[in-house]
Amino acid sequence: MSGLGVPDGHMRRIRSYVRREGRITTAQRRALEDLWPRFGVADSSDRLDLGVLFGRTAPVILEIGFGDGQSLCAMAAAHPEQDYLGAEIHRPGVGRLLRDLGAQAIKNVRVMCEDACSMLANKVQDEQLHGVHLFFPDPWPKARHHKRRLVQAEFVELVRCRLVVGGYLHLATDWEHYAQHMMVVMTHAPGFENSAGPGRFAPRPQNRPFTKFERRGQRLGHGVWDLIFRRSS
Ligand SMILES: C[S@@+](CC[C@H](N)C(=O)[O-])C[C@H]1O[C@@H](n2cnc3c(N)ncnc32)[C@H](O)[C@@H]1O
Repeated sequence: MSGLGVPDGHMRRIRSYVRREGRITTAQRRALEDLWPRFGVADSSDRLDLGVLFGRTAPVILEIGFGDGQSLCAMAAAHPEQDYLGAEIHRPGVGRLLRDLGAQAIKNVRVMCEDACSMLANKVQDEQLHGVHLFFPDPWPKARHHKRRLVQAEFVELVRCRLVVGGYLHLATDWEHYAQHMMVVMTHAPGFENSAGPGRFAPRPQNRPFTKFERRGQRLGHGVWDLIFRRSS
């Protein structure tokens, strides 16, 4: 048992994505072939030893659903003192990130091409992560699809268990309804404290790079809502 009510490996599966291969460019395919051995984490059933994975002991930040990896790459380059683990199921996006990591000779990133929920439940141990980023997750706007949203009580409890005390979960979305839903879920989640004060959204952090989906939201005239909650117990 990893903590309050989330037995290891037993989180109810959230179908937060539809698997689609999409178009993969030659450069992305080449990056997947050439750079996966350097940055990729093999999909096995073993628990991760983060010290071995990164070859050192440093704070580890997990980004879930990094898309084409713009924020992950920029944050890792800006913070070489931290290590970054990315989980994304969309292979073209993984290829794009690998290409950028290789081009910039970034050393502090490891990439997983798999479902972040089962990865968190089965491969990350308790109190291993200093931060978890979930930027512009699929909003699943239709009411009948809300159960596919990643931010739900059980998921948030799993994240809490994997964070060190004092570690943070940073959520950002351009969908107002999802932002309000996130605030309700996080406010009711035991063991978290809102860094902006009760019920308040956080100011957009300067160090959060713009992502493809944030730009898309801007073009559509959407607002952006950030929530940063720290594990308090
Ligand atoms: C709307 S996109 C946002 C991408 C990126 N964060 C950005 O801001 O540009 C959501 C991404 O989350 C990924 N995703 C959804 N559920 C996931 C899961 N359970 N595990 C890993 N990736 C997931 C999708 O493949 C998609 O690339």
